[in-house]
Amino acid sequence: MRIDIITCLPKLLDSFFAHSIVQRAQQSQQVEVVIHDLRDYSTDKHKRVDDYMFGGGAGMVMQIEPIARCIRALQAERSYDDIIYMTPDGDRFDQRTANRLSLAKNLLILCGHYKGVDERVRELFITKEISIGDYVLTGGELPAAVVADSIIRLIPGVISDETSALTDSFQDDLLSPPVYTRPADFEGHAIPEILLSGHEAKINEWRFEKAVERTKARRPDLLG
Ligand code: ADE
Repeated sequence: MRIDIITCLPKLLDSFFAHSIVQRAQQSQQVEVVIHDLRDYSTDKHKRVDDYMFGGGAGMVMQIEPIARCIRALQAERSYDDIIYMTPDGDRFDQRTANRLSLAKNLLILCGHYKGVDERVRELFITKEISIGDYVLTGGELPAAVVADSIIRLIPGVISDETSALTDSFQDDLLSPPVYTRPADFEGHAIPEILLSGHEAKINEWRFEKAVERTKARRPDLLG
């Protein structure tokens, strides 16, 4: 999979993708993440990519020309399964969308800033608009990193224990059950005995029960 990200703050994303599992996934060529500095596509002598809002109003708007130039240059090299715009008024991101996007070959993500992008960018180029939640951040970079991270870890082989991505919270509309590690007894707080039984079927049954119990208590909306 290849993920291209267009941003006017490339350094913010460079550091994120240079670390952790996401970096290892890139080193082992399971994924390629390429960050593009939108300013490189500006023809303005100060490399500006934004301008005042037509009709007046506070805040700057990202211009269509540098974005169009950048997207077209990338499209000339490959076709994209989706061109995603990160925006608080997009569709709410969830595990189902992450699963679907993890099957893509090429994804292009545009990070918004200021008051957002000229509406014509959305009309002409964007195929999917994603919000990571009902709050407004200063830009689309952190949301793009969130979306990319959640997708990359679903690519087979990226997480060493492949089954662990399948048992995540939300993967089957259930929150994860509680987990424990050594010591089995911490200052008199013992772990549930079943986990020491070695009986795999019973342990799985217990985990499922706990997952349902936790989902009922915390996120009953997931149970439909
Ligand atoms: N840009 C600013 N806030 C955002 C959010 N909540 N989701 C996606 N992109 C954003």
